[in-house]
Amino acid sequence: MTHTLNLFDIEQHALQVLSSNAREYYLGGAADEITLRANVSAFQHIFLRPRILADVAERSLQTSVLEQSWTMPIGIAPTAMQKLAHPEGEHATLKAAQKLGVPMICSTTATVAIEDLMHAQKGANTWFQVYVYKDREATRELVQRARDAGCTAIVLTADTPYLGKREREARSGFHLPPDMELPNYRGLGIGAMNVSEGKEASGLAQHFSQNIDPALCWSDIDWLAAQTALPLVVKGVLRADDAIMAWKHGAKGVIVSNHGGRQLDTAIPSIHALPAITDAVGEVIDVMLDGGIRRGTDVLKALALGAKAVFLGRPVLYGLAWQGEQGVERVLEIVREEFDLAMALCGIKSVKDIHPDILALPHQH
Ligand code: GLV
Repeated sequence: MTHTLNLFDIEQHALQVLSSNAREYYLGGAADEITLRANVSAFQHIFLRPRILADVAERSLQTSVLEQSWTMPIGIAPTAMQKLAHPEGEHATLKAAQKLGVPMICSTTATVAIEDLMHAQKGANTWFQVYVYKDREATRELVQRARDAGCTAIVLTADTPYLGKREREARSGFHLPPDMELPNYRGLGIGAMNVSEGKEASGLAQHFSQNIDPALCWSDIDWLAAQTALPLVVKGVLRADDAIMAWKHGAKGVIVSNHGGRQLDTAIPSIHALPAITDAVGEVIDVMLDGGIRRGTDVLKALALGAKAVFLGRPVLYGLAWQGEQGVERVLEIVREEFDLAMALCGIKSVKDIHPDILALPHQH
């Protein structure tokens, strides 16, 4: 019998069913994939100092982020082109997120239009991820459409002036299958994704170099924040000084992230970057994290270091590939159960009672 006990099991199931085009795209990182691996292993090198006899019979995972109420401090990170994983694509992911009471960050490069997604899942908490395009009017329009569709936050991916050097994508000639499209680009004059024969770059790398503005800088963040009444979250922050800049330029939150190890290889693992950032801005804006969360104890460690919430990227894609909506639900349930148990075994009753003192810093071993 094949067990499905944890996120690693679900990853194995998914790798059996994904097309090689999708598999190489999803599981790959930049260059030697050092950051990709380190995101996960960094958590494995942090140890806990559980408290005993603390009456943990009743616990609450209730969480507040950007003044929203979530059932737990775990959301869904933006990942592109989810129909590569499952025919229902983003629809299935959002249904699962809504069922579990957590938000989904929908990617601009989704295979479902944001209006259709939100229409099908009324009341779901969806944040919309954007890039800033060379064409600012197209960017403004996307942000406006997201708001009109009912999204509750805008997430700017700020670590991608150029796409990272993704050798798996290049080797596998990553492309969008002809029967899929990226409908958020409809009518915007942005070239969706064409793979030119004989190029060493993947379809996505070509899309980026044609459309994304590598000249983006902090004054553009002021501009973007002014385009919408929705809270702006800057994703891809790895330094305290950048987190302070994000706050000063109008961001209401930052996501500490190295883009799942897909951008700059050997960039610092997210969990190592987190403490300096929560020290710098944790009192004034919401600090969140993605990258490497595979266990409930990882969630606990990120919260102990000051994160308000964490996001899951690849594990959700793997759940989606494995069993569609039910697969994503299972992923979220497993992390919830593991996180809840980790809290209990650490003597913690509620998310707001998670403090750094449960971490064993090296000198305390
Ligand atoms: C897109 O942002 C990707 O990481 O592939």
